[in-house]
Amino acid sequence: MPARLQKPAPIETKPLSAHRSPGLKGKVRVPGDKSISHRALIFGLLSVGETEIEGLLEAGDVMATAEACRRLGATITRIGEGSWRVQGVGVGGLLSPDGTLDFGNAGTGSRLMMGVVAGHGVTATFDGDASLRQRPMMRVLTPLLKMGAEIVTSAEGNRLPLTLRGAADPVPISYESPVASAQVKSAVLLAGINAPGETTVIEAEATRDHTERMLRHFGAEVAITPHGAHGRRIVLRGRPELEPKPVIVPADPSSAAFPLVAALIVPGSDIVIEGVMMNPLRTGLITTLCEMGADISRTNVRVEGGEDVADLTVRHSALRGVEVPAERAPSMIDEYPVLAVAAAFAEGETHMRGLGELRVKESDRLAAVAAGLAANGIVHRIVGDDLVVAGSAAVPGGGEVVTRMDHRIAMAFLMMGLASRAPVRVDDTAFIATSFPSFIPTMRSLGADFGADLA
Ligand code: S3P
Repeated sequence: MPARLQKPAPIETKPLSAHRSPGLKGKVRVPGDKSISHRALIFGLLSVGETEIEGLLEAGDVMATAEACRRLGATITRIGEGSWRVQGVGVGGLLSPDGTLDFGNAGTGSRLMMGVVAGHGVTATFDGDASLRQRPMMRVLTPLLKMGAEIVTSAEGNRLPLTLRGAADPVPISYESPVASAQVKSAVLLAGINAPGETTVIEAEATRDHTERMLRHFGAEVAITPHGAHGRRIVLRGRPELEPKPVIVPADPSSAAFPLVAALIVPGSDIVIEGVMMNPLRTGLITTLCEMGADISRTNVRVEGGEDVADLTVRHSALRGVEVPAERAPSMIDEYPVLAVAAAFAEGETHMRGLGELRVKESDRLAAVAAGLAANGIVHRIVGDDLVVAGSAAVPGGGEVVTRMDHRIAMAFLMMGLASRAPVRVDDTAFIATSFPSFIPTMRSLGADFGADLA
């Protein structure tokens, strides 16, 4: 019997401490990429027929998107671990959902689905947890309103809960996004699927291109040309017949970042992380760590499911501080919390520039990272949108980190505790389940000492 989709269980607070650990050893695989997993389900919904997905990330954020796709008309079945089937309704075939679309903690799921709804003559109510209710939605709604969607009701500041009435005949637009955001780009392109003519998105900084790749994979016509020094112009020809195609989801580089940094900072470590996606728009952290002196080698480099993939061998390394340029931010936007942890162990200062977008993630990550560094005795400063961390091989630790409903804050600071002098305690690990449910056993299998706060 295929498992039925279930709402994520109510979340209870789960503190945990990370203790100085012996060298990490072994081979691990981290779960499927979150960005691709959301998109695979959405493209399954928008195709007529059955989309087979292997390696889907079975975590809270993606399960919320699966539930939303089901409410919009898809039939979704779990065949086995990471193996899912989506029976889609096709472009133009969406149903108005009979209940609220609850996206939990997931900014990506909610914003991408706003694009889908905006391009269809359906009305849907979007909601989420306290973190998602705080996050700005106008960045996606501004272009979607131009395409003909309407906000029926919303919380103050056009935040969730929000009811969106889509356009039965969406207007194709040309949109130059003021923020470097793959979510904004993707929302416009997803709405543009059901618009006649060409929908264009111009981005000053290239952001992750999974939507463009998947549009092509499912049969749409997408032209991509360079724009300025670091940007791209993406033109989608509307109303394609999307055909179901198998999707293989590679391992998430944003999850691999945690064991990777842990191995670099814990003396004596030597680990392998298998099958990590190496899409060049996602590898900014690896570039930066290599500049810092990290010993990371890629082996078994291959293409899987249309993405470059490699096994990463990572060994403990003496790191040194570097300058991280602002234009690199889109390719490592989710990795700054764990980079700040690596920087705490590096000789000299690491200057991370252009981090304004971190203020509107699952938490204000700039503030959350700074508070975590302060709690653990690390000298740092915020200058405008930049973060400067003054590292040393002897990180004091001993602090308690407030997670702020943010999975990446919890995971990043647990990595710090594996190498700091005194343990680092994180007040709540429950949100780790939104992106990396197997994080604790995976890290323990490498030798991480997480103490006994959790049974
Ligand atoms: C994502 C884009 C990024 C990233 C998020 C996933 C995506 O957000 O932070 O975790 O899958 O498109 P922004 O587009 O807001 O930068």
